[in-house]
Amino acid sequence: METMPLDVLLEKHECLRLAWGVADAAGAFLRDERPGELEVFSKSTPTDVVTAMDRASEEMIVRRILETRPDDGIIGEEGSSRSGSSGVTWIIDPLDGTVNYLFGIPTWGVSVGVHVEGIGDVGVIATPDLCESYVGVRGHGAWRIRGDVAERISGRPTSSLDQALVSTGFGYAPDRRLSQVSVLEGLIAHIRDIRRTGCATIDFTWLASGRIDAYYERGIHPWDYAAGLVIVEEAGARTWTTSSPDSGTTVVCAMPAIFDDLVARLLALGVERGP
Ligand code: IPD
Repeated sequence: METMPLDVLLEKHECLRLAWGVADAAGAFLRDERPGELEVFSKSTPTDVVTAMDRASEEMIVRRILETRPDDGIIGEEGSSRSGSSGVTWIIDPLDGTVNYLFGIPTWGVSVGVHVEGIGDVGVIATPDLCESYVGVRGHGAWRIRGDVAERISGRPTSSLDQALVSTGFGYAPDRRLSQVSVLEGLIAHIRDIRRTGCATIDFTWLASGRIDAYYERGIHPWDYAAGLVIVEEAGARTWTTSSPDSGTTVVCAMPAIFDDLVARLLALGVERGP
């Protein structure tokens, strides 16, 4: 297994040390400051508490980025978006997997992607309750970080779709969920099994580290996939995305041996269409 000190890895891109710093700090903040007993609040309150944590996380990340790089652009889930003049754009999900966070399920994360002139160069995903983080740097590989050590990762060498463990997610609108379930109904007999982590950014990290073989979802946003795409591509997966005004972005990512088969099946099932 190839390893390197985290400090050495962080030199591989001019934005990586900052991306790591903000994702790591926001993840620690969300883990350490998570209000206790969220489940005993009244029905509407816990969501508000989570929304407040989500916003505080984004404010912290954006403030730190702009202190160092005031000319960069920002796309943030919680509304901090601004255009920049440097050609560098930071694409941030300050808390992905909010429902998991609310329920105390450990699969939630902080995602920071960096685009340079429109190309995804850097992705950092922190998953603090799982005690690991992930880094992808274009041309320099995908890495899992535990403590101060970076371990190079790659996806599983799956050979056929019927052996593949596939993850997906569902939107929040009932009609979209139903159409997504009908796609899954057409797929599930042709794969090993399905997983639903409840956090798109975790799905990317699990594909990159060989815990699943593929991930697809319709209706996700740039902050859900900007960092994740860099990480899975650097881990050897192939990716396909398409966007439409009605559906948002559909992403399919899989290891190369099963990629064409999976994309063909999902397209035949209308994965990118519907409410
Ligand atoms: C959601 C999660 C979920 C995915 C949704 C996302 P949120 O993000 O990543 O797994 O299925 O598409 O919107 O709402 O928890 O930040």
